[in-house]
Amino acid sequence: MEIVIQPTAEAATKIAARLVAGLIRERPAAVLGLATGSTPLLLYRELIAMKLDWSKLTTFNLDEYVGISPQHPQSYRSFMWENLFQHVNVAVKHVNIPDGLANDIPGSCGRYEQKIKGAGGIDLQVLGIGTDGHIGFNEPTSSLSSRTRIKTLTPQTIKDNAHFFGSEKDVPHHVLTMGIGTILEARHCLLLAFGGKKARAIAEAVEGPITSMNPASALQLHPKVTVCLDEAAAAELKLKDYYRWVFDHKPDWQK
Ligand code: PGA
Repeated sequence: MEIVIQPTAEAATKIAARLVAGLIRERPAAVLGLATGSTPLLLYRELIAMKLDWSKLTTFNLDEYVGISPQHPQSYRSFMWENLFQHVNVAVKHVNIPDGLANDIPGSCGRYEQKIKGAGGIDLQVLGIGTDGHIGFNEPTSSLSSRTRIKTLTPQTIKDNAHFFGSEKDVPHHVLTMGIGTILEARHCLLLAFGGKKARAIAEAVEGPITSMNPASALQLHPKVTVCLDEAAAAELKLKDYYRWVFDHKPDWQK
């Protein structure tokens, strides 16, 4: 894992945006895995400002709520349109988001997996992390080899996401999410975390044992992960001075 610690979320996001933009410029038909929530908002703002060509890209979102329509203001489809897709020249037919209204949920999840495979796999997967260590909506005790499927949110995640819905009682309990096995097949994972609320989950994910109690810890098994943090999210990392030194002293070929 490469751990990048910056003074602010804005500075950490700039590094993440350079990485995504580099891929888009190098591979105009790349496959991007995208995330929702508060964390990637700054990243999407940066990418929009860069005026990149999205016309040949394919995108797959990590997750979606079950039982709310795509037009619902809090659906992840609405989120993606409002915060990214309507501002770039992405082709609608290349955008993929799990279908939270599917009648046949296992069938629909299986087709989502097939579509990712059919697109050649995900080149770069953007990830946030929950305060409980979830990635996508893979809550603690998710199988570390899980595939896209239905999950039930924990009370903690419902609490964390209530601000989007106005109240806890309006947050759906069920979601569709790519599995941890799905995420681990992406060729590069880019995990972002900002703020002190994420510090414990990040320390456990990066430096703790690999355990389904912190699903993000499964990323330790992945050969190419970049973790972009602000100081607050990095606060509980034991080796943070080492990570800083490594980043500041990269050999030229690696910069
Ligand atoms: P957040 O959520 O970006 O809204 O903090 C992260 C997540 O749940 O993955």
